[in-house]
Amino acid sequence: MSGQRVCVSDFEEEARKVLPKAVYDYYRSGADEQRTLEDNVAAFNRWCVVPRVLRDVSTVDLSVFVLGQKLSMPLCVAATAMQRMAHPDGEVATARACRAVGTGMMLSSWATSTIEEVMSAMTSSVGPGGVLWLQLYIYKDRDLTLSLVKRAEDAGYKAVFVTVDTPYLGRRRDDMRNHFKLPRHLSMSNFSTASLAFSEGDYGNDSGLAVYAAKAIDPSLCWDDITWLKKHTRLPVIVKGVLNGDDAVQAVNYGVDGIVVSNHGARQLDGVPATLDVLEDVVRAVQGRCDVFMDGGVRRGTDILKALALGAKAVFIGRPVLWGLACQGEQGVTELLELLKEELQLAMALSGCHGVSDVTRSLVRRAAFTSRM
Ligand SMILES: Cc1cc2nc3c(=O)[nH]c(=O)nc-3n(C[C@H](O)[C@H](O)[C@H](O)COP(=O)(O)O)c2cc1C
Repeated sequence: MSGQRVCVSDFEEEARKVLPKAVYDYYRSGADEQRTLEDNVAAFNRWCVVPRVLRDVSTVDLSVFVLGQKLSMPLCVAATAMQRMAHPDGEVATARACRAVGTGMMLSSWATSTIEEVMSAMTSSVGPGGVLWLQLYIYKDRDLTLSLVKRAEDAGYKAVFVTVDTPYLGRRRDDMRNHFKLPRHLSMSNFSTASLAFSEGDYGNDSGLAVYAAKAIDPSLCWDDITWLKKHTRLPVIVKGVLNGDDAVQAVNYGVDGIVVSNHGARQLDGVPATLDVLEDVVRAVQGRCDVFMDGGVRRGTDILKALALGAKAVFIGRPVLWGLACQGEQGVTELLELLKEELQLAMALSGCHGVSDVTRSLVRRAAFTSRM
């Protein structure tokens, strides 16, 4: 491990220096005034850990079953679009890193690598084993949508995460100011038509991606489309982007296999709650009828511990992986994931937990103060 990078913010600082400004801005930004962006991180400081002692923590097992697959830890990689802007190997490097540490990767529909090449990178590299899942936007073109699902099934992906918080793209001011678009040498590799591959279009003075999303994504999406998707795939279907307990009940009623409590890394609607603040509402509403995951603002091992204590089966990270990629490609992502794994392992040992099943609600409570925890 590099001597200088000892926490996730060290990776971000280094990434900020190497990435072109428009790329760093695109990766980092949240919507509007970015209040939720800040709050996603701050929410973890509103909880503290109340450790147990004298429990023989000479061994700690971080492994967990997620959607039927054994992972080495309850920390997985969330879908983030266009990873080849961070490093030439992009999603392929991320997949290899996940394989090396034995965790799961959710591949973005807007990846700059194909579904098939990411799977072959994962299966041909060494490590305890990784799992790939497809993140899906439901497009106005339903045949195209199903063709992505079919390709994922054929390639050996293990689940489909449908993003349900993006009928339109949120207003990201930096992207508007930068007229953000993909560099010409890259494209959204899973689409064969130029109009859906996003690389070449002239999008005027707006954020190119927002204009693209408005053209491509189906804003009429509703719960019946979950039924439609389930009918067309044998893979587990998980909804990503639920914040409201009533929606969590709906999701269960529509037979989903899991829910990701997510506000899309605060990139959609500013002013929504930090995900950690609504995690328990969703967990309570679901009453164990499906797995609940969360993402948003996870930056430390103790953050993972707190989310698990509040009922998450596992958590996902978005931006930190992009910082790892920008720093050092596959090795950077591996190092980042190992770092968080070590932090979680230590946090579990120091709070008297041998395994994830010891991380229960009684391990955390609301902090009396929230300045720095
Ligand atoms: C640069 C970037 C691109 C993203 N692209 C997608 C995407 O293509 N599909 C999706 O469902 N979510 C996408 N997300 C949201 C992430 O999956 C995840 O919800 C979020 O990043 C978690 O928050 P964190 O970045 O604070 O860890 C993206 C997030 C970022 C930062």
